Amino acid sequence: MEKVSFTQMKDGTKEEYEFLTAHEIDHTKHTADRLLTALVDLDKSLSGYQITRLGHSVQSATRAWRDGADIDWVVSALLHDIGDIYAPYNHDEYAATILKPFVREQCTWCVQTHGDFQMLYYGHHLEGFDQHKRERHRGNPYFDDCAEFCERWDQASFDPDYDDLPIEFFAPMVREVFARTPYDPQVIRKGERVPLTDVDVAAKR
Ligand SMILES: [Fe+2]
Ligand SMILES: [Fe+2]
Repeated sequence: MEKVSFTQMKDGTKEEYEFLTAHEIDHTKHTADRLLTALVDLDKSLSGYQITRLGHSVQSATRAWRDGADIDWVVSALLHDIGDIYAPYNHDEYAATILKPFVREQCTWCVQTHGDFQMLYYGHHLEGFDQHKRERHRGNPYFDDCAEFCERWDQASFDPDYDDLPIEFFAPMVREVFARTPYDPQVIRKGERVPLTDVDVAAKR
């Protein structure tokens, strides 16, 4: 079979749906590469800063790596703004949706809410923005993690003179994360808080 013959889903056969499922599984194997390509596309978005969104993403991930953060954190830092291309009004949720099946719940939550936390750094300069929007998340077990994510990696990563690692350095980590079994409880580790930094690991990097 090269293609299914149905034109309405309700007419499809068992064989056709099995054929499509096999195709879909093959397609999902290349998610990591598609994300890396999309990340490079970030180079074209949001001008005005001293570095591009791709530069900002790579710099966030580089800082996470150098802080001794684990792979879930590093990949989350790398992809946290990937929604900027297609979802400028909820780019955080967009990125979190991509990451959710493959990284720790803690990391997904931080990526999902980082937009509200980031307002701390600029909200007071603009009309109609609430600098303390993050307060609506106060009480969440991951509140302090997201505050640290933004302070250490996100708001700090707009420096054109910072010594970034190349995107190729992070590619194997992205491939490893997106090759995981989706929603594996051992990956999601519900409720578990892993520190963002590890001085012993950082010293070896
Ligand atoms: Fe962002
Ligand atoms: Fe960011």
